[in-house]
Amino acid sequence: MSDHNDQTDNSTGHEWDGIRELKNPPPTWWAWGFYAGLTFVTCYYIIYPSTPMNNKIQEVVNGVTGMEVMVHGHTKGIMAMVNSNPYYKGEKWTQSEIDALVAKGHNELTIIAGDLKYQDGWTAINEMRDDVAEIEAVREGYMAKLATMSADEIIADDEMRQFALARSVVLFGDNCAACHASGGQGNLNAAHPENSFPNLTDDDWLFGGWTAKIQETITDGREASMPPKGGNEDLTEANIDDLAKFVVALSAGDAVLELNDDDEGVLTKGASSFAGANALFQETCAGCHMGNAKGSMLNGDFDTGAVNLTDGIYRFGGSLATIKETITKGRTAKMPTFSERLDEVSIKILTVRVHELGGGMAGEPAE
Ligand code: HEC
Ligand code: HEC
Repeated sequence: MSDHNDQTDNSTGHEWDGIRELKNPPPTWWAWGFYAGLTFVTCYYIIYPSTPMNNKIQEVVNGVTGMEVMVHGHTKGIMAMVNSNPYYKGEKWTQSEIDALVAKGHNELTIIAGDLKYQDGWTAINEMRDDVAEIEAVREGYMAKLATMSADEIIADDEMRQFALARSVVLFGDNCAACHASGGQGNLNAAHPENSFPNLTDDDWLFGGWTAKIQETITDGREASMPPKGGNEDLTEANIDDLAKFVVALSAGDAVLELNDDDEGVLTKGASSFAGANALFQETCAGCHMGNAKGSMLNGDFDTGAVNLTDGIYRFGGSLATIKETITKGRTAKMPTFSERLDEVSIKILTVRVHELGGGMAGEPAE
């Protein structure tokens, strides 16, 4: 119930179910806050572009040049007079730009060709454009310098290295992360080993981890291929089983191979258990993985990509079942070519990134 009582008790005389409305003034802090807010809004209105208005009002705003400018749908504030925009003054809409906007669905456009594109003077958007233009100018300087340097020179120059690494984030995300993962750690796909991608952050390289090789890999791509059964049709199920167990033992350290003078791998450990498997290995597999099973890279061949089978690092998976599948079916993997998709400077920037991910080599290893 609402009642009207007489007003002798500092109340408005309104009462609802025993709750009275009093006439106490608001607290001082609140009143100050209120006036401060009003003052702020008024000053803001006068200084900054603010209130939406009719589009397309022609008026002379710039007191210095007397230039006629377009008000794009809002009041301009005195910032527009004290601060004129150096970069975009006078840029005008062209018919083809308007057509493009219309094609995008902006069918209520009131602009016509020849209208000024950006409001002269200060707006938040113009300020942002100026900042972006400034950053671009600095960036272009760095990019021009990058173009003249080699990847090794960039890595040696801390400032340029930092710049290249910062620039590489988006490039790597757009072009490489889908396969090598966003941090370059690769992707070992246990359910579908054939869809695995190598880790770029370790020092285990297929084709060489110094800048020239990395740059070559990105520019021209790579295609490494291991034929089914290593190309030896005569391998039986039992042979494959023996070979797979041998490969596991090589990584576990249960079997150790040393090259003899004829570049054949001789067992210096595990000879009693793995003599038969090693004979098969030397006959069928050593042509690519080398007699010591350390792979092509560590034996000075940087094109084949036949992996090191002794380090416990697997491209496709190190379980006995997966290794048997690898030997039985073979493996083919393709790193795409980027020479068409990326310019030389971008490839250089990515080379620096891959090199600096953790496993970069200083240069071709000494024999
Ligand atoms: C479609 C998947 C895919 C994309 C995209 C891709 N890669 Fe690769 N990359 C591979 C595969 C697969 C290999 C292994 C090639 C092989 O074994 O033949 C590889 C190998 C490499 C290697 C050689 C590693 C070594 O151990 O020698 C480097 C370096 C590399 N990629 C860098 C990059 C960079 C940088 C990008 C982005 C510009 C990129 N990759 C994009 C699939 C991809
Ligand atoms: C013609 C050269 C060639 C021969 C012969 C060959 N391999 Fe390979 N092997 C490769 C290459 C290249 C790769 C990497 C495949 C890729 O990147 O697509 C590979 C990969 C592997 C892998 C996968 C390792 C991992 O990191 O997941 C295993 C295991 C392997 N080979 C074992 C063998 C065995 C055992 C034999 C002998 C039966 C053999 N290979 C014969 C070239 C060869």
